[in-house]
Amino acid sequence: GLRRDKTNIIGMIISDISNPFFPAVVKGAEDTAFKNGYRLFLCNSDNDFAKEETYLHELQTYLPSGLIIMTSNINGSPALADAYRKAGSAVVYVDRLPPLWTGDTVTSMNEQGAYDATKYLIDLGHRRLGMITGSSTRTNSDERVQGFRRALREAKITISPEYVQEGYFEKQSGYANATTLLKLLPRPTAIFAANDLMAFGALTAIRDMGLRCPEDVSVIGFDNLDLAEIVTPALTSVDQSGYQLGAVAAQLIADRIRGDKEPKHTHVLPTALKLRASVAPAL
Ligand code: RIB
Repeated sequence: GLRRDKTNIIGMIISDISNPFFPAVVKGAEDTAFKNGYRLFLCNSDNDFAKEETYLHELQTYLPSGLIIMTSNINGSPALADAYRKAGSAVVYVDRLPPLWTGDTVTSMNEQGAYDATKYLIDLGHRRLGMITGSSTRTNSDERVQGFRRALREAKITISPEYVQEGYFEKQSGYANATTLLKLLPRPTAIFAANDLMAFGALTAIRDMGLRCPEDVSVIGFDNLDLAEIVTPALTSVDQSGYQLGAVAAQLIADRIRGDKEPKHTHVLPTALKLRASVAPAL
């Protein structure tokens, strides 16, 4: 058949453009793509896997040089992504990884970041900890739960299952799940939320219940959004660089197209706990 050359397009699928974490990822990808002569084609799935698959199918028409996929489902679309690879496009999954995907990936140290946050709370004397997870269809959320549990295990702290509530990475979910956690007896003295938006929701829930952060309840988030500095109290959060996630992914694609033949790149970017006012020692 006719072999058509690839265009200079990199397709990027993100899961929720209204979450302030993702514009940073897009900016990193776009800056790096542009510098390398590529143009970014952005698709927003709104956490709707059917929409994600529609985009994945239709992007084929544009003969992209590469794809950056932040999947909204734990299974992703490894078969379709593989078809792209066979057709000569470079594909990289970022942030959330389908376990069946065997190609390039870029993520943050989700487990370690969550561990560090939890250990910090434990070192300050907290024993009754609660966690609000992201949706269990996200590998990054699962890794954060594992980090939380590892810190508890090492400190020989056991918590009953209802102290870990499954949320879904949005503010209203943080609000609802913090409300649930704070009605438990004994009440948790600290809450670790798997992202900042949920932590913001938790701060509002604490206030609405007539409690105080950090005097009654400490809160830690994950992402270290710019907003974390601005909320009251300023939010302690695990920093991960969305910009770097996107930049490393786009660079990987540029390198692949230039002939990088490594079987597989697995980039795991560092996290760092940013200390602010939303945490106090346990009484
Ligand atoms: O804020 C949303 C979360 O989902 C982030 O922590 C990031 O990891 C993304 O997947």
